[in-house]
Amino acid sequence: MTDSKRTATLTIDGRTLELPIHSPTMGPDVVDITKLYAQGDVFTHDPGFTSTSACESQITFIDGDKGQLLHRGYPIDQLAEKSHYLEVCYLLLYGELPGADQLEDFENRVTNHTMVHEQMMNFFRGFRRDAHPMAIMNGVVGAMSAFYHDSTDINDPWQREVASIRMIAKVPTIAAYAFKYSMGQPFVYPRNDLDYASNFLRMCFAVPAEDYEVNPILARAMDRIFTLHADHEQNASTSTVRLAGSSGANPFACIAAGIACLWGPAHGGANQACLEMLEEIGSVDRIPEFIKRAKDKNDPFRLMGFGHRVYKNFDPRAVVMKKSADEVLALLGVEDNPKLQVAKELERIALEDEYFASKKLFPNVDFYSGIILEAMGFPTSMFTPIFAVSRTVGWIAQWKEMVNEGNVKIGRPRQLYTGATTRDYVDVESR
Ligand code: ACO
Repeated sequence: MTDSKRTATLTIDGRTLELPIHSPTMGPDVVDITKLYAQGDVFTHDPGFTSTSACESQITFIDGDKGQLLHRGYPIDQLAEKSHYLEVCYLLLYGELPGADQLEDFENRVTNHTMVHEQMMNFFRGFRRDAHPMAIMNGVVGAMSAFYHDSTDINDPWQREVASIRMIAKVPTIAAYAFKYSMGQPFVYPRNDLDYASNFLRMCFAVPAEDYEVNPILARAMDRIFTLHADHEQNASTSTVRLAGSSGANPFACIAAGIACLWGPAHGGANQACLEMLEEIGSVDRIPEFIKRAKDKNDPFRLMGFGHRVYKNFDPRAVVMKKSADEVLALLGVEDNPKLQVAKELERIALEDEYFASKKLFPNVDFYSGIILEAMGFPTSMFTPIFAVSRTVGWIAQWKEMVNEGNVKIGRPRQLYTGATTRDYVDVESR
């Protein structure tokens, strides 16, 4: 951040305040209002944080109008094409692409932590057998702080590092176990001779009676899904992680908070909601009816997988994901799947429709990721857990960045109070 020496002038009831302006390396300037209340006795009001920067960060940059997403300066399409998930994890966590030795060391460190504490199996078995895998993940990741006491001290850099590696290594195992448990199948232990994505697919689809031969094209597609979802600057779940972390909560608790936020259909739950919507539409001839509903102000229905708070041109992740979807569907020979037919036609009609064009509503990454995951054999209930696996590194990188800065200020928004003014308590007999 640089101080531009420029200021913004705010006049309130004849009093004038000069507010400093800071310039980022990319993106719009930022008006610093930290002293506004002390000097002006007013708050700002911005529900949904549409114009508010809540932190300084060097990890990810998004220009929604240009459809640009950069991690540490590198465009997401280059990373998705040329890199792979664990290398992107390293980049997000440590700021630079690793050298060959650094990458090998990082991959070994992650690989050495893929198993979960054996006692945690009992924890899984405590859930109802029909529990949503996201509910299980939320509970089990939160419970990691009860199993890994030696990495909960946020003031110790070594413990912060161990906790980070543990979570990146174990969340795929936890997600796969949640899946296995919900199907009544035995847990499949991780295999450390496989890469991150292949290991995850095997833990999900192998059974003791029959091993699972990992198809390299599917493993690559899985790795891409992880890579494309790895971080997305200050989105709702990441901001939740930062807010939870600002109180000094341990890292496992903070990531569990992020998982809880991600679950909502306006955020990570959209991929599940999108597939359910395609199922509900059912056939191409019913699309106009749903388009009509999406445009109707009195109908809460929205086209799931369309629109984004930040991207108002296109979602660069969706471009890569669409390509990946075509590859996977061709490989699996399921191009004539009815949901896919509905998806393709819906995409075509919505892109041509004046309502969607004028509001800049385009298919987002979740529109395509659900289609790929379903073709791979995942039920819709696993879509958001897979998103959580991918995003864990982003949450951790952002949490670490905040804690590393030191002197973390607890996040504590203000409010525009519109409730009752002061009044005296009345005894129940007199009410
Ligand atoms: N279908 C129909 N209309 C829509 C949609 C949609 N999917 N999304 C937005 N709109 C309309 C709104 O009704 C609103 O219209 P208005 O101005 O006439 O009132 C306008 O477009 C702006 O919408 P907002 O809700 O104000 O936009 P916001 O930036 O707050 O919301 C969001 C973004 C939550 C993603 C929204 O587009 C949405 O609900 N999409 C569907 C859910 C989804 O796909 N979420 C995934 C996000 S990506 C991710 O998490 C990886």
